[in-house]
Amino acid sequence: MLKILIKNAEFITMNAKEEIIYGDLLIEGDRIKAMGGELCDQAADKVIDAKGKTVIPGFIQTHIHLCQTLFRGQADDLELLDWLKQRIWPLEASHDEESVYYSAMLGIGELIQSGTTTIMDMETVHHTDYAFQALSQSGIRALSGKVMMDKGGEVPTGLREVTARSLQQSVDLLEKWHGFDNGRLKYAFSPRFVISCTEELLKEVQRLSDSYKVNVHTHASENRGEIEIVQLETGMRNVVYLDHLGLANDRLILAHCVWLNEEEKKIIQERGVHVSHCPGSNLKLASGIAETPDLLDRHISLSLGADGAPCNNNLDMFNEMRLAALIQKPAHGPTSMNANTVFKMATIGGARAVGMEKEIGSLEPGKKADLAILNLNDFHLYPSFGVDPVSRIVYSATRHDVETTIINGQIVMENRRLNTLDQDIVLKEANRSIKRVLKRAEILV
Ligand code: GUN
Ligand code: FE
Repeated sequence: MLKILIKNAEFITMNAKEEIIYGDLLIEGDRIKAMGGELCDQAADKVIDAKGKTVIPGFIQTHIHLCQTLFRGQADDLELLDWLKQRIWPLEASHDEESVYYSAMLGIGELIQSGTTTIMDMETVHHTDYAFQALSQSGIRALSGKVMMDKGGEVPTGLREVTARSLQQSVDLLEKWHGFDNGRLKYAFSPRFVISCTEELLKEVQRLSDSYKVNVHTHASENRGEIEIVQLETGMRNVVYLDHLGLANDRLILAHCVWLNEEEKKIIQERGVHVSHCPGSNLKLASGIAETPDLLDRHISLSLGADGAPCNNNLDMFNEMRLAALIQKPAHGPTSMNANTVFKMATIGGARAVGMEKEIGSLEPGKKADLAILNLNDFHLYPSFGVDPVSRIVYSATRHDVETTIINGQIVMENRRLNTLDQDIVLKEANRSIKRVLKRAEILV
């Protein structure tokens, strides 16, 4: 088992006491073996001198679409339903195996470089096996699944699915990938949103998630037009409908939840449903501002996600943390979402959302070795004297301050050099892929 010793660092642990400790951390295999004080470096295969540096738990993003990374910049300045119909669905329908693979690799490169170590990812309808191959090769920790869409008149024929096939393909992918690499990869059923799923499909997803004990990941109450359609078709609001189908439980992760009413908030709270807050996407798609201070007051499980590259346009947790804090302050006061609260959402909150709070989300002996080493010695981070270490990360640091990223005990980036993917090849192939996809989608550039 490989042993890595990180020496002389400041550790923002995010353990139950939210301790900040100084000294060394020893990784043995995929787990943190020991931390704090001075640890002997005789037995280590590799020693990283982190003097003057800060180590944080790797970020956990609970709503990402790696299949959309290729579409960065191809769908700006639109509202959700136009964004989907005019750009995203035709583009997703035009994906091929290679474009799905490089879209994932491009996104993963960006995520690892900015300190994200775990993602809850939603793929497109087809070629999801290629996204899983990228996930497996890159070393990132992920829960992912093919998106399910068996309803909706305006869905391109290339995406529109037959219910039974959508379910069968999901189960086939689950059987192949769930638990891969000692649990580093997991499967999550991913019905797109109520509008594009039949009741039959959603009921079967509920049954399957129950029997396999895997997560369900979907979008809900993101946009007012979406809610109107759901109300018209089902006679109910999103969360009420999902609860009616038996889906509202602690394995359900709902992205966005911008426009919840009182009844929906109560269901989410009582059933232990998890909300993935996506402030960057919610602003760019003009969806609205989620009432996160109210959700936190109700002790609702809240975490963060950048969503997809074409609605953000980055996959950068530093940006999401900053936005999550700042957007609440004008309406709810300067302390409504403080630095510590959003940092918790970005780490241990994400772990709780994906049911892995015993494994990831904090730096503690026995947990998986998922972490980022930050170098906070730069103009934009000084003075450091007398400044709260978490405030420095949330309000002053940027993704460029991430120096090294370790996932599952593997050094996936060291001194800003990615070890598991070739940046030059990924950038080149990303351009080649989007050119092909745009042509197939008959979108002129
Ligand atoms: N709702 C349904 N599909 C999507 C998607 O791909 N992105 C976002 N942000 N919302 C959605
Ligand atoms: Fe999304």
